[in-house]
Amino acid sequence: MPYVREIVVDGHPTLRKVAKKVHAQELRDPLMQQLIDDMFETMYDAPGIGLAAPQVNVSKRIFTIDLHDDDPTHGPFVVVNPKFERTEGEEWRRDGCLSVPGYVGESPRFTHVAVTGWDRFGEKIRLEGDGLFAHCLQHEIDHLNGVLYLDKARNLRTLAEEEAEDAAREEREHPVEEAASAS
Ligand code: CO
Repeated sequence: MPYVREIVVDGHPTLRKVAKKVHAQELRDPLMQQLIDDMFETMYDAPGIGLAAPQVNVSKRIFTIDLHDDDPTHGPFVVVNPKFERTEGEEWRRDGCLSVPGYVGESPRFTHVAVTGWDRFGEKIRLEGDGLFAHCLQHEIDHLNGVLYLDKARNLRTLAEEEAEDAAREEREHPVEEAASAS
């Protein structure tokens, strides 16, 4: 039975290590298959759209991803030993991380990527996409290299600060009449 593992947060040393490559043989170990099942369970429980093994304190090059939309090209997938095959374009995207709870920021991301790697049985797979899917692939591969989005983010802020900013912007753009006439 899969179970929800503890997600480690910024400050935990495993998040800063370069994760180890997985050998094909390791994927035949039931404990490795259990890890993958547990990663899905943990990602869905959080809930999140991606999770890398170092986030559950396992320094291996494995991540799970599922955008939770109706497009089957957006997951669920597990990718072992991922590599970028192609990267294109650049944009700043709003970013957040289960290992950095309560914060958001904007990170520079390629607009389009193709990633190759293995599935959970060691078969070759290739994932390609843009927008949120491309962003998510890059975010998870960063985790495998010991990188957190806040290392390169701008405008890092708490979710509470973001809500206050959004409310202030809404107030500027759509001022409430009573507020304007109150004295
Ligand atoms: Co993350």
